[in-house]
Amino acid sequence: MGIWQYIKCLGRGGAVIATMRDVARLAGVSVSTVSHVVNNSRAVSDESRQLVLQAMEELGYRPNTLAQSLRRQKTNTIGMIVPDSANPFFAEVARAIEDTSFAKNYSVILCNSEGNLEKQRAYTNVLIDNLVAGILFVAAGVSTELVEDLRQRRVPLVVVDREVPGVEVDTVMTHHAQGGRLATQHLIDLGHRRIACIAGNSEVSPSAERVTGYQDALSANDLPIDDNLLLKGDFRYESGYQATRQLLCLNSPPTAIFACNDLMAVGCISAATELGVRIPDQLSVVGFDNVRLASFTNPPLTTIAQPIFEIGALATKMLLERIDDLKAPARFKILDTDLCVRYSSGPVPND
Ligand code: RIB
Repeated sequence: MGIWQYIKCLGRGGAVIATMRDVARLAGVSVSTVSHVVNNSRAVSDESRQLVLQAMEELGYRPNTLAQSLRRQKTNTIGMIVPDSANPFFAEVARAIEDTSFAKNYSVILCNSEGNLEKQRAYTNVLIDNLVAGILFVAAGVSTELVEDLRQRRVPLVVVDREVPGVEVDTVMTHHAQGGRLATQHLIDLGHRRIACIAGNSEVSPSAERVTGYQDALSANDLPIDDNLLLKGDFRYESGYQATRQLLCLNSPPTAIFACNDLMAVGCISAATELGVRIPDQLSVVGFDNVRLASFTNPPLTTIAQPIFEIGALATKMLLERIDDLKAPARFKILDTDLCVRYSSGPVPND
């Protein structure tokens, strides 16, 4: 097919895909000149560059990124693995990652491990097979072996939100224990003395550290640590709901609950409301994350704010730097949390 028939074919909406050779013929240059312009791999005269760019535009030529990727054994794609894509915290972190990546000409593949270690490993292999440039990783559980394996395979990696102990790897997280202390001290300052805590997944660092912060605040105020007031959740709505029903049935129920994430705090509010317990008059509730949902609960949720966008943006920045330099020492970034007071916490009820 001659070049002009070819362009006419395109003019009829033909599905012909222009090749580098077509561009070279229309521009009157060699294929290697077109390749150097497309890949910016060698200096080309302005005249030839303009001829190539004009021919590419006329033909609607798009570089074959798959072929480029196979040659480079790398794509301009970043992989992200989260343990629960339905949790707005991870959705908001993912948005920050996508914003930051797109600005640097990277696209993002989001994988949901659903808290399952086998699925988590399977997805890391899928991402590596798809030649991602690097991975942003939120651990589904104890993931030391997997992260060490990725390091050995020289996969650029940043661990986000949940520390993976025993491995030298770039990490971005917030000061979870600090947030636990802030939440509990806020309730103590409101006069509460029977403060319950609903923990998240015990096998990941954020929950354990937030509980430590809760216990540290109680001890710092000479309040007893009552095991009956510490219940195990899983960072999902239902576990906060069930734990709250259990707590409110105690002979001496708590007057305040610190839930180790916002979804469980929403479950708390739902259970208390169902039982006719008024928030915050009869029960105060504090969450952790400050996802956008927290402003729209009834009543709006007092919570510990994580710098969610900053977590995603910083993790992405660190990963792009790691892609360019695999050998630099691992970096460990801990960001501050902040108390965000709304209307789900109030003074301890008068008995
Ligand atoms: O809400 C999900 C929780 O898991 C968040 O608090 C985040 O810190 C992650 O650990």
